[in-house]
Amino acid sequence: MVGTINHIAIAVPCLRAASDEWRQKLDVEISAPQRLEEHGVTVVFIDTVNSKIELLEPIDDASPIAAFLAKNPQGGMHHICFDVDDIYASRDRLVAEGARILGSPEPKIGAHGKPVLFIHPKDITGTLIEIQQR
Ligand code: CO
Repeated sequence: MVGTINHIAIAVPCLRAASDEWRQKLDVEISAPQRLEEHGVTVVFIDTVNSKIELLEPIDDASPIAAFLAKNPQGGMHHICFDVDDIYASRDRLVAEGARILGSPEPKIGAHGKPVLFIHPKDITGTLIEIQQR
C-alpha cells in the first residue's frame, strides 16, 4: 500500500532556533516558513537526497502539535509520511483493518498541496503515520 517516504516530521518549540541548529550542525538548506492554518502549524522543509524532513512549530495552543510539545518540551519525531497511489483506497483499507483516521475521514490538503490523512497512532505501533496522495 505504501510507497516512498515523503517526509519525516519533527515537532519543535521554536522554528527559528531549530532551523538555525539544523543549518549549523547538519549543513542543510532550509525552505522559507509556510503557515498552514488548517493544520495549526508553521513548517519548513529540508530536502535530503531521497526524502524530506519537515520541522513543525505550533501556531497556537490549540494546535495538535502543542499537546505533543507539552509532553516533549525539547521537540521530537512527530510523524512519518508515506506516498500512496490512491488515498481513498488506502483510507478504506485502513478503516476496514480497524485503524482510525484522525479528524475527518475526508483528506485535507497538506503542506505539499496534495490530499493527506493521518492514522491514529494507537492503531499503528504508537507512531503517527500520514499518508499523502502521490
Ligand atoms: Co507531514
